[in-house]
Amino acid sequence: MGPAIVVHDLSRRFGSTEALRGLSFEARAGELYGLVGPDGAGKTTAIRAIAGLLAPDAGRVTVLGVDPLRGGRRVRESLGLMPQEHSLYGDLTVQENLTFFGRIFCLPRRVHRARAERLLAITRLEPFVDRRAAALSGGMYKKLALACALLHEPPVLLLDEPTNGVDPVSRRELWQLLYRFVDDGMSVVVSTPYMDEAERCHRVGLMHEGRLVAEGRPLDLIRAVPGAARFEDVFLARIGASDEEAA
Ligand SMILES: Nc1ncnc2c1ncn2[C@@H]1O[C@H](COP(=O)(O)OP(=O)(O)OP(=O)(O)O)[C@@H](O)[C@H]1O
Ligand SMILES: [Mg+2]
Repeated sequence: MGPAIVVHDLSRRFGSTEALRGLSFEARAGELYGLVGPDGAGKTTAIRAIAGLLAPDAGRVTVLGVDPLRGGRRVRESLGLMPQEHSLYGDLTVQENLTFFGRIFCLPRRVHRARAERLLAITRLEPFVDRRAAALSGGMYKKLALACALLHEPPVLLLDEPTNGVDPVSRRELWQLLYRFVDDGMSVVVSTPYMDEAERCHRVGLMHEGRLVAEGRPLDLIRAVPGAARFEDVFLARIGASDEEAA
């Protein structure tokens, strides 16, 4: 079976800003792939292009072999997306948000109820089902957004900075949740600016100014940089090298 997600030589500009400059990577089923990079590296632009929400100027994306811009319903059903911010209805309660997303995907009532209960249990949001999304803490909001993205059990999941603003305990829980789904064969692409989170991914693409400046398993990347002890050292070394090349 080919890779679940293929991003090939993707470019996209916004006016004079080159948000993506020949970005390429692939993610397989059962793989947790991290797009790691600083603010403005192009992570959100890449995720929007994979989700079919943005047309690239050049290059190619396929999700399970299909162009997300042309795949219509089939692609939408195979993709789960957790955007960087504001993906829920603040005025709706936890339960109502789950119902809304279940209806978008036309889940039969019984299927929806069983999945929503399971997701509420594993995200530990059960006690808060009647709370409005706008009144949730940052971590709870992210967990609800994740639950809503997972309701239709997509084989491909895209998460844009899912742990931004989340406390360390919830952050660990969120990663443990992701491992569960990946173990079941899901392909997950997760963006993060946090270097410590790079080490939690199976493979990492280190993104800088719209393209990858390094890619590999976190430990291999650390070993390849002399004197590096943590991923942060890899980041500083690779980004420094890339800036020198550009100068
Ligand atoms: N709709 C847009 N219009 C104009 N410029 C944009 C737009 N979207 C992104 N950009 C620019 O493209 C570049 C990449 O932005 P992007 O949001 O993809 O970065 P990011 O890696 O997600 O950053 P962050 O970690 O801050 O979320 C930035 O310079 C940004 O200002
Ligand atoms: Mg972003």
